[in-house]
Amino acid sequence: MIGGGYVGLVSGACFAEFGTEVTVVETDANKLAALREGRMPIYEPGLEDLVQSNVKAGRLSFTGDLASAVAGTQAVFIAVGTPTRRGDGHADLSYVYAAAEQVARALTGYAVIVTKSTVPVGTGRRIEEIIRSTRPDLDFDVASNPEFLREGNAIGDFMRPDRVVIGAETDRAREVMRLLYRPLYLIEAPIVFTAIETAELTKYAANAFLAMKVTFINEMADLCERVGADVHDVARGIGLDGRIGRKFLHPGPGYGGSCFPKDTLALLRTAQDYGAPSRLVEATVAVNDARKSSMAMRVINACGGSVRGKTIAVLGLTFKPETDDMRDSPALAIVSRLVGDGAAVRAFDPEGMEQARPLLPDAVVYCTDALDAASGADALVLITEWNEFRALPPARLGEAMRGRVLVDLRNVYDPVAMRQYGFTYYDIGRSTRSL
Ligand code: UDX
Repeated sequence: MIGGGYVGLVSGACFAEFGTEVTVVETDANKLAALREGRMPIYEPGLEDLVQSNVKAGRLSFTGDLASAVAGTQAVFIAVGTPTRRGDGHADLSYVYAAAEQVARALTGYAVIVTKSTVPVGTGRRIEEIIRSTRPDLDFDVASNPEFLREGNAIGDFMRPDRVVIGAETDRAREVMRLLYRPLYLIEAPIVFTAIETAELTKYAANAFLAMKVTFINEMADLCERVGADVHDVARGIGLDGRIGRKFLHPGPGYGGSCFPKDTLALLRTAQDYGAPSRLVEATVAVNDARKSSMAMRVINACGGSVRGKTIAVLGLTFKPETDDMRDSPALAIVSRLVGDGAAVRAFDPEGMEQARPLLPDAVVYCTDALDAASGADALVLITEWNEFRALPPARLGEAMRGRVLVDLRNVYDPVAMRQYGFTYYDIGRSTRSL
């Protein structure tokens, strides 16, 4: 497994749990040292235990030496980063191609080289060319096996997937992949074998579709507010139609994270390059960007049109709960705008404050818990729906605050109850004013 980042680490540990001997190659010395001591560089529920138990069982190990890890193996997964390239929005594949070349040099016999990182259509073919030109003598196949792991739920998603998509074009390559995923045949998880380009595109299409679904319900939420409808009832009413499905219809401050923003951008660039632009994906990206910036305006309006001189408590900074990931989190746009407009922001997040610090204005005060953040605040904004925020006692929240404005960007609280506790409560698209 080349790359001990999020995808490499979770996939490596899960393949080891499936009974395969896995070596994870990590070139960052600090990360490698941490992994060898059993410390995880990321927060993912269950990962530390899974890594430690598989290391103990002798199935999982970590090294900085790619050549020795790759020699003699039957499958090499490339799980290095593919960040958005500055300037043009394309995925930056330099790490992927560099890894492919090094792997080609190090292999000692037949192997399948599999891309696990999300890579644009055509990358598998390019990797094939790189390996062939680096090692014309080598017997190998290339495959594409995109991951569909949700942060916070990654181990469950790997162990009990809705499906596994594998782009592999020879019997030999398919056989190696079947062996790796053997335990999934027992639980009858669908394994979809396709051509390499198809597997690559499937990953982008899945994420773009989900991003579109979230963005659609967010737009409907705005409309619900105007017409006096309740977006949760709309979501349920449409989601019960099996063709639509109930998941990913929860309205909020806009999608963020490491996948949706990056993958939608990369897909729309690919679509443009190939002369088949996707106006739906283009609109999704634009609508979501605008939404994240407009969320601060909701807070400002809730505070009577200005937040200058006011103290705002912010609960939740990460792009979603159960992760410390701040990438493209709506909190970045919201908190920066509030501070820029003269508010004093007191923030709390159960896992993300260390990651947030370098990305947010210096003036933000980081608090020890939600009640500490609420202390003396004129308004409270909930950005990320961590479970512990759901259970906050409203009376104590009210006592801690100076004002009573509550902006709930994830609709976690009961509007009627919150109003009974004296809060001026704002949510997303529930139009509860007449209830
Ligand atoms: C996603 C995909 O789900 C996963 O399959 C893929 O491999 C990687 O990207 P992840 O980024 O971890 O996973 O988060 P996910 O749970 O999918 O949420 C993405 C974003 O959409 C978050 O910002 C979340 O808050 C938002 N979202 C999701 C909503 O606003 N409403 C919803 O109903 C669902």
